Amino acid sequence: MHFQWYPGHMTKARRMMQENIKLIDLIIELVDARIPLSSRNPDIDEMGRNKARLILLNKADLAAEKRNDEWVAYFREKGYSAVKVNSKKGGGIKSIQSVIQEACREKMERDRKKGILNRPVRAMVAGIPNVGKSTFINALAGKACAKTGNKPGVTKGKQWIRLNKSVELLDTPGILWPKFEDQQAALKLAFIGSIKDEILQTEELAAELVKYLDREYAGVIGEKYGVESSEDPYERLRAIAESRHCLVRGNELDTEKAAALLLDDFRNGRLGRITLESPEEFAEK
Ligand code: G4P
Repeated sequence: MHFQWYPGHMTKARRMMQENIKLIDLIIELVDARIPLSSRNPDIDEMGRNKARLILLNKADLAAEKRNDEWVAYFREKGYSAVKVNSKKGGGIKSIQSVIQEACREKMERDRKKGILNRPVRAMVAGIPNVGKSTFINALAGKACAKTGNKPGVTKGKQWIRLNKSVELLDTPGILWPKFEDQQAALKLAFIGSIKDEILQTEELAAELVKYLDREYAGVIGEKYGVESSEDPYERLRAIAESRHCLVRGNELDTEKAAALLLDDFRNGRLGRITLESPEEFAEK
């Protein structure tokens, strides 16, 4: 799923978020474990003031394990609850309910002091397009969950999924707009395929990825495609085209196809588990 973001989309998404945020106690914010900061929305902290916060490093299966742990520690240090998950395979999902309770402990305590007992915590999942919101909701809620709200006579209400007696989840996730003003972030978002490849041509984008991988994950490309190293990323794409027999008009190298192949392999984890940013980089800035 690809999204093209225009100011109109952004305004609508922002309005929806602001409306829904009023109804909830906890924001479950999904980020992509391969780019935990670049996949965050710049305005979420402002919008989520006074709410309990939980950050999930989703697609943790595609990111380097050591980095996953560093990022979890980073977010916890900043005061968020944070865990890594793989929504697709269900990894880390089982413990989420207790993580949610923990993230809302203060809020429940305040309720208890006010004499409010047994009011379930209401939570909303939010994140940029393609980060895995629907996959996560399905993994967490499964099919057995009872839906509440929108009963006859309670029309126009929101749909809430009852996870257990103390937690309800809004069934429509909040869509956040990605960080496209920041060029470095936009490039990484394009690498993982969450904003349209249009920003850069496929070959240009793949060449940038080659440069990154050769610098930070040396040996990965050589190993995967059996190609010699080279300083020139476009030369690398030609070598990949050759080794993978990407040809046009009989025998001309199809570097565009090689570029698409590389991006696809990266996005689907076929180059191994790769994280594109580390907490240290951001600490330095
Ligand atoms: P969204 O609601 O936030 O827009 O995202 P959605 O759940 O549609 O997920 C986007 C893509 O990310 C889906 O892949 C989904 O399977 C994949 N995904 C979600 N969570 C994880 C995860 O933890 N690990 C991995 N590896 N992938 C995840 P797709 O290409 O649209 O479909 P498919 O490949 O599943 O067929």
